[in-house]
Amino acid sequence: MARKKIALIGGGQIGGVLAQLISLKELGDVILFDIVEDLPQGKTLDIAEASRIDGFDVSVKGTNSYKDIEGSDIVIITAGLPRKPGMSRDDLLVTNAKIMQQVAEGVKEFASNAFVIVISNPLDAMVTLFQKVSGIPHHKVMGQAGVLDSSRFSTFIAWELGVSVKDINAMVLGGHGDTMVPLVRYANVNGMPVMELLERKYGDAEKAKEVMKAMVDRTKMAGGEVVKLLKTGSAFYSPASAAVQMTEAILKDEKRVLPTCAFVKDQYGADGVYLGVPAVLGADGVEKVLEISLDEEETAALNNSINAVTTLVADMERLGF
Ligand code: APR
Repeated sequence: MARKKIALIGGGQIGGVLAQLISLKELGDVILFDIVEDLPQGKTLDIAEASRIDGFDVSVKGTNSYKDIEGSDIVIITAGLPRKPGMSRDDLLVTNAKIMQQVAEGVKEFASNAFVIVISNPLDAMVTLFQKVSGIPHHKVMGQAGVLDSSRFSTFIAWELGVSVKDINAMVLGGHGDTMVPLVRYANVNGMPVMELLERKYGDAEKAKEVMKAMVDRTKMAGGEVVKLLKTGSAFYSPASAAVQMTEAILKDEKRVLPTCAFVKDQYGADGVYLGVPAVLGADGVEKVLEISLDEEETAALNNSINAVTTLVADMERLGF
C-alpha cells in the first residue's frame, strides 16, 4: 500500500513539531511548505537526519512551491502569525485572513481532494474562510481547537485530583476563544463525576465549585498563559499533538469522538457555522456531530460562544474576506 502524504502549510513552530511527530509515528510522507526560503528545507533535513536514530521510514521534505503538495491525503495549516503578549486571538484576524486566502487558493489548485485541518487563529473564522475560498466540502474541512482545550482542562483536573490524566474525560465545546465552554457536568474520572470527587476532597460543595471555576477559567486563558511565558510566540507542542491525533483518526478510520471545529447545521442551536462540537472522525472526515443535552447554563454559555464566532465571521466578511 502506498504511503499516505501529509502536507503541512506553515513551517514555523507548530509546523516543525508536526513534521517531527508525524515522522516518528510514520503516519505518512511529510511535505512542509513555507513562504520563507530554505526554512522548511532546513527543518525537514534536520528531522530526516534523525531517522536512523528514531527508526522511521518516511520521506520528510521541505518546499516553497505549492505544486509539491499535489496528491496530499491530509493538509494541516498553521500558516499565519501567532499572538504576542497582550493580544487576543481575534487581533490576528486581518493579517491571518490575508494569508489564509492565499493558502486556500494553493490547496484548491493542488490538493483539492485532501482532508484539511486548520490550526491558524482566530480558528473558527480561519476555518470558515478556508472552506469558502477552497470550496472543499464541509465534512473534509475542520479546525483543531477542542482537542487541545480539552487536554488542557483534563491536565488541570488531573493535577488537582492527583490522578492520572489518562483517566480523565473532559470536553470543551464552542469557539476557540474566551467564550469556550468547558463542560463541567460531564467531566469524569473513569465515569466518576469530577464534581463529586472534588466535593469529597474538600468536604464542602461551595469550595468544590470554587476550585472547579478556577480550573475552567485557567482553561479558557490557557493559551494566553503560555504566550505570556514564551513572550515571542504561542503554544506549539500541544497544538501539534492535538492535530496529529485528529490526523490519525482520519487516516486510520478510527471513529474517534473528538471535540472538533466542524460545520454545524441544525444542531446545538447553530445553523451553518463552524463551531467546536463532539465529532466522529474517520475515513470520511467529520462523519457525524454527536449532540448531547445541555442544561440552561451550558446552553446559555454555548449560545454566547456561537454569537462570538458569528460576530467575528461577520466582521471578517465586512472587511472583504
Ligand atoms: N503561506 C505559508 N506560510 C506562511 C505565510 C503564507 N502566506 N505567511 C506566513 N507563513 C508562515 C511563516 O513564515 C511561519 O513560518 O507561517 C509560519 C507560522 O509559524 P510561527 O510564526 O512559528 O507560528 P506558530 O506558532 O507555528 O503558529 C501558527 O497557529 O496556533 C496558531 O495562533 C497561531 O496563527 C498561529 C498559527
